[in-house]
This record gives sequence, C-alpha cells and structure tokens, in this order.
Amino acid sequence: MCGIIGIVSDKGNLKERIIEGLKRLEYRGYDSAGVALRKENGIFVRKKKGKVSQLEEELREVEVNSRVGIGHTRWATHGEPSDPNSHPHSDCTGRIALVHNGIIENYPQLKEELRRRGHNFRSQTDSEVIAHLVEEEASRDDFLEAVRRAVNRLEGSFALVIINSDEDALYIARKDSPLVVGLGEGESFVASDIPAFLPWTNRVIFLENGEIGRLSFSGVEIYDFQGKRKEKKPQVIGWSLAQAEKGGYRHFMLKEIHEQAKAISDTIGPRIERDTNSAVIEDLPLAPRHIKDVLILACGTSYHAGLVGKFYFEELAGLKTDVDYASEFRYRRPVLSPSTLVVAISQSGETADTIGALRKAKEMGAPSLAICNVVGSSITREADSVLYTHAGPEISVASTKAFTTQLSLLYLLAVYLGRERGKIDREQESGLLSQLLSLPSKIEHMLREQEEKIREIGVDLSSYNDALYLGRHLNYPIALEGALKLKEISYIHAEGYPAGEMKHGPIALIDENLPTVFIATESKVLDKVRSNMEEIKSRRGKIISLLSGEHPEIEELSDGVIKVPLVDEYLFPIINIIPLQLIAYYAADFLGHDVDQPRNLAKSVTVE
Ligand code: AGP
Repeated sequence: MCGIIGIVSDKGNLKERIIEGLKRLEYRGYDSAGVALRKENGIFVRKKKGKVSQLEEELREVEVNSRVGIGHTRWATHGEPSDPNSHPHSDCTGRIALVHNGIIENYPQLKEELRRRGHNFRSQTDSEVIAHLVEEEASRDDFLEAVRRAVNRLEGSFALVIINSDEDALYIARKDSPLVVGLGEGESFVASDIPAFLPWTNRVIFLENGEIGRLSFSGVEIYDFQGKRKEKKPQVIGWSLAQAEKGGYRHFMLKEIHEQAKAISDTIGPRIERDTNSAVIEDLPLAPRHIKDVLILACGTSYHAGLVGKFYFEELAGLKTDVDYASEFRYRRPVLSPSTLVVAISQSGETADTIGALRKAKEMGAPSLAICNVVGSSITREADSVLYTHAGPEISVASTKAFTTQLSLLYLLAVYLGRERGKIDREQESGLLSQLLSLPSKIEHMLREQEEKIREIGVDLSSYNDALYLGRHLNYPIALEGALKLKEISYIHAEGYPAGEMKHGPIALIDENLPTVFIATESKVLDKVRSNMEEIKSRRGKIISLLSGEHPEIEELSDGVIKVPLVDEYLFPIINIIPLQLIAYYAADFLGHDVDQPRNLAKSVTVE
C-alpha cells in the first residue's frame, strides 16, 4: 500500500504542496518518497529511500517552477526499499513519469515483452512496466488513449497518476486501489485519500473501478476503460482540516485517543431518536425479521470489534453470530444462506482481505452491510448497504477511535435488531441507549482522572520484553486488542488470552519478568477473574488491573491499578480499551519509537 498525489494548478510552485500532501499520506507507507515536476523542457524527478521529511530536506534548495506534479510515499511490496525502487517511475525517454499504488500481477510477462522491444528497466518494481507500456502506446496515439490502452493490459490492482513533459495535465486510472479527485479554483487534485488535499478543497469525486481520466486547471474528464465519457457529480466532504492535523498533540495517536468521546457522540447521536430514546438505523440490506444469522468479516482491530459484536448480536438481538478473519474466510468453503447478514467491518474500507471476503460472501448470495469510516471507500461501494462510523480521519497507523466507534455502532445496531425482532421491549431499549449516551462524558472523566497514572504504568511496562493481557467474556476481545496495540507500536511482545484458558498452558510462562494486564471490571465473571489473578500472584507474576467499583481484595493483588468508571456490562469493552491504548502509547513514546508510523506497518493493507 502506498500514498499517491497529483496536483495541476495555474498558480504554479507545486513542490511544497506536494510534499505537504505526501506528509498527510505517509500513514499509508513510509519506506521511500519521491516527486516528479514538469519543468520547461522535461520532467524533474527526485526520489529517495526513507521518509518524506528526508526527501523534503533534499529538495530544500531545489527550485522548479511547475504547474503539474506528482508525489508518492511507498510501502514496499515488489523490490526492497531503495532509491531506484522509489516512485515516480519514468519511461526510457524520461518524458513520462508515474506514481502507482497497487500490484501489477502480470508484470513479469509485460516486462519480458517490453525488454524484447528494447526498453531499459531501472528498478525491480512491478510499477515501472506501466511507464514503458504507456511509452509504447504514446508513440502511436494521443496521451489519454495511450493510457487507456496501457491500463487495459494490466492485471492486478492500481491507482495511477501519470504526467508527460508536453502538457499541464494529470492522467489517472483506477482498479481496486483508491483514488479521489479534488476540484479547486483553477486547480485540480488527485490522491489516495482526501486529507492529502483537504487544505485546498473539499469538493471531491470518488473514482470507481474501471475509470480513467484527465485533470487540468479547469476540472476533470472521466471515461470508462472502453473510452466512453462518464458524468460524475462532485460531493462536498464535511471533514475539517483541523481533524487531519495534530492540533497541539505530540502524535496523531494521542489526539485520536482523546477524540474518542466526541467520535462516539458523532456516531451514535444522529441515530438515536431523542424523544423516544429509540435506535434509528438508516439502511440494512435485509429486514430484521428475515435475518437468520450474522457473519462478521474483518481484519486486525476491526476483527476484535467484530468479536465484541458477536456478544451484542447474540445477547441483545438473539442472532447466532460468527466472526471470521477476512483472510481466512476467503479460502474456506463456508456455509452461507440468503438470510445470513454479512457485516464487513473496516476503518479504511480498503483492506484487500476484507474486500476479497466481502466479494466471496456476495457471490454466495448473502446480503451485505459495511461498517466503515472512510466515505466512498471500496468496501462502502461494494456492500449492499453502509453504516458509517463518524470518527473523522484516523491518521495514526494504530487504530483507536475507529475501534470505539465501531463498537458503539455495533451495540446500537444490536439494540435496533433486538427491538425489531421482539427480543427487547421499548423500555429496555431506552435503558440500553441511555447508558450508551452517557458513555462519552464518562470517557472524558476517566481521561482527566487517570491519564497520568496510566502514563506511569506504560513507562514501567516499557522495560519488559513481554506482556500478557487477560480478560474473560466481553473483555477477552479487549485483551486481544490491548496486546495488539502494545505489539504494533512499542514492539514489545504481547499476547492476549482468555483469562480462564491461562491455566491450560500459558501459566508456564509466569514469573517476575512477565507482567500481566488484567481486565477486571464489573461483570458476572469477576470472581473467576480474581481467581485467575491469585494463580498469577502465587507464581510471582506482576499484575496491573483495570478495575471499576470498590474491590480492595483485587487492589491488594495488584501492583498497579487503573480505575474505570462504572458502566453497563455491555459497554465496558468500549471504555476499557482506552487505558490499554494509552499504556501502549506511553510505552512506545518512552522507548522513542515512531508512534504514528510504526516499523513495517501501513494504515490500510491493500495487499493480500
Ligand atoms: C490496528 O491498529 C491495525 N493498524 C490493523 O490491525 C487494522 O485494524 C487492520 O489492518 C484492518 O484495517 P481496516 O479496519 O482499515 O480494514
């Protein structure tokens, strides 16, 4: 997965704006970065292994007055991170340059064919073949037609932005990788994601699969891959620039953790009818009474949200629910029926495994619902219906506010389904929703009261090599998610486990070098969790507890305690994850890691 941007503007001087856009896209990959700017008699290209800031430094003294340019920030797939493998890639003549996000599956055959025709390749990437293909076609056709013919030969996924040395224009094409056009005054933009050009316009057009286009100062023309003109209406996006910036926080992750109370309010508020306190769900692909069971498909943090969703759907709506890793579901022979509601959960809406699993479920005739944060993303277009989380842009690679908004929406959906299916009455619904509505202020209170304590615990945890996260029932998925957060940003090995399963194996690991984070908030299994704590303590294990209410005996067993406000049992997962996100954040920050852009990762994983 990579981030790409292109700008064509009658105001000129694009270098700074392309770099600024790339910085906003860096969450998509940060192995290398590069720019190409059209100059008077050719194309200036500079690309470099490392982050965008390193490229920026290298370009500091460079003056190129350009009215069209492209940029790329890379997450390496084909070819190691290196200067030659960085984008933009050029043809043999240097008169064409392009940036690509995706994977060209038939590149070995194309490369061989182009080599035989005398083309010279300078990188090991799949992307470079596209520049040479366009070069071949451009020798006999106008440029748009050349791009169209070239993309018709590509197999795999691509979002492409291409420039040539003869004109102030950007050529774009999309198949299975995101691309959004932005329309400004005397200038047009294209990027993998909206925040890249949000400072300059919020009027956007989402490119669909199989579309190709030409951008100029005055706007965009869009065609299908057969060359037929398409009319598309721009949409105005409600995201503000402040949402896409750090707003005084040291990192996006810390800002996004603190935004959770608001993000939850924004997600649930418009879906609760205040007079009656009842749930309003705008769009479902199947009437609630016709749903027989539910299948949730997702990856990573979104998968953990799905595990909590299973409790909600089963216990509040009486619907048998399975949760599958999208990457596993794709290659099984699952049993689905037209009355299985398939729910694909994804922050980005661009995760390749989740898209693949959703397509498979659709092929099998199941109705599908997307729970997604990014407006217009691939998953939202492919699912039969969409419910958006309104978390705003999530920039940090480690997902935080997307998770808690997913949980809030799953809870609300389960309450709605429970009511419509006659499993809960109006009074119960009103009670459950009142609890949900009170959550944001409780989260704010907890952050005010507990953050310093959590910071100390995070710093302390940073001195260990491993950590165990234990929870039961609704909090087992939270143990998984807490461990994932610690792993991905602090690089400390962590394992989430059901507390009751520990005695079947992992207990052998316990000694004074393995701290355990226990999620021990109020629940029907709290006594059992306390017994699991005793088992750890008697083996000299260090214990950190998440507690609600007064439990002196648990405090006694614990080396560190974080107090969480009392909420309804079903809502504890939403509030409990927040201290665990902060523990990971403070541990990683103390260790000096790049919290927002952890090594080897990318925000949305658009490859299998
Ligand atoms: C979470 O912190 C991760 N970065 C990752 O597990 C992520 O949740 C996963 O890749 C799924 O992404 P999605 O929600 O955008 O589909």
